[in-house]
Amino acid sequence: MEYKRGQWASNFGFVMAAVGSAVGLGNIWGFPYKMGMTGGFAFLVIYLALVVLVGVVVMLGELAIGRKTGKGVMGAYLSFSKKYAWMGFIGLLAGFLILSFYSVLGGMVMRYMLGYLLQLFGVDGFAGQGTGFFGFMLYDYGGILFCYLVFMALTMLIVMGGVEKGIEKFSSVAMPALFFILLFVIIYVACQPGAIDGYKFMFSPDFSVFSDPEIGFFEVFKTAAGQMFFSLSLGMGCMMTYGSYLSKQENLQKNALIIPLADTIIALLAGMAVMPACAAFNVEYTKGPGLLFVSMQTVFENMGSFGNFVGFMFYFLVFIAALTSSISILEVVTTFQIDHAISKGKTPDRKKISCIYSVLIFVVGLPVALDALGSGGAFMKAPYEMLGIAYKGPGFAMWNDCWLDLYDLISEGVLMPVGAFIMSVLIGWVWKIDVVKDECEAGGKKFAAKKYYAFCFKYVVPVVMAIIFYAQLMDFFG
Ligand code: PHE
Repeated sequence: MEYKRGQWASNFGFVMAAVGSAVGLGNIWGFPYKMGMTGGFAFLVIYLALVVLVGVVVMLGELAIGRKTGKGVMGAYLSFSKKYAWMGFIGLLAGFLILSFYSVLGGMVMRYMLGYLLQLFGVDGFAGQGTGFFGFMLYDYGGILFCYLVFMALTMLIVMGGVEKGIEKFSSVAMPALFFILLFVIIYVACQPGAIDGYKFMFSPDFSVFSDPEIGFFEVFKTAAGQMFFSLSLGMGCMMTYGSYLSKQENLQKNALIIPLADTIIALLAGMAVMPACAAFNVEYTKGPGLLFVSMQTVFENMGSFGNFVGFMFYFLVFIAALTSSISILEVVTTFQIDHAISKGKTPDRKKISCIYSVLIFVVGLPVALDALGSGGAFMKAPYEMLGIAYKGPGFAMWNDCWLDLYDLISEGVLMPVGAFIMSVLIGWVWKIDVVKDECEAGGKKFAAKKYYAFCFKYVVPVVMAIIFYAQLMDFFG
């Protein structure tokens, strides 16, 4: 019997799944905190420019190549030539690293959600620690491992259900729900006195960070670019994989605009929930990653009794967002193995494959779960400590903190930009824009703006990448 690889049941389902992949911790956590650290408005402007010039273009490239070849990231590159196998490995390695730290964080979000659920029933959900719970949780290894395990298991169960019955079904319900909860939180926050300062931070023109000696243009640029790749799930084959399950009838070009647009709108909305909330309740939003946990918990604490409900809704929303993203990453490696089995003439067992990969990835993520995010004195030592490097100067400054930073640096900082860069060069210079054009026209729709896309693949994306790598090198050598 021939194995059916599966297909999205509808374009709506595909869009929900793809937007679900894109919208995640990157939007609700990364976007506001990075914006907070790099000057608000200035970050926003660069981010938006990058979405238009690079995000939309790379998105179309990935979807087109995925659908044309009908394969996940490894199979897609192999369909062109055996010599591109390493591009497939870039995607798989990025998937391994991202999913491992992502699920640890997803587990933490789940823990906060459950904490607020308990509080709704009058039970203390945060072990008597109040807003100090974050610091406590990091050293509560049993708790953290348990949440990590549960989050990973949920991810696995959905992926086991398959593309149509698992991922599409879940996303089609979860994404609309996420949107409405987000609107509720935004409206509630907007009614709080003092919220206005948060909007001002986001939207009133101010480019003073560019002349800030501590930050400067390249730092803002690099941060916005990394955030853009991560947030749009680009450069590691995720959209290629999702594209490979899309029917030839569907309009690729339109989809490649809708996904980044929806992702950007949700990132902005998340900023409009988080920034004004912090402003209204006198909580700092420029302090970095603690924003999602420590700062937001403080906000809900200050809201009084209604805070438990809003807190629950908020973390529930983040939980959904994280889950629809984590499933897309597990799907990348699962599809790889499925395609591999098919190419060997075997019948793949999706359930077994996703189970084995979940276990492997869980193991890779253990250091992230056990190093207390680098807070010191934890069960697991930080990477630099393990390597016996006491030196903390230039060059090591970026990854000496914790395992999450190291995994994130390798994936978001290197693998994703490299993956997107090489794919763009291949499309722009080697395969030529016609690979994308022909695929876009497969459903009968004419490919619009061919010149624009060709120009972006050839020049804009590579130039932007060059700036990113330059900024990273500057960072690395202090
Ligand atoms: N885009 C997701 C987010 O913003 C993360 C992600 C990265 C998902 C890579 C899939 C692939 O949280």
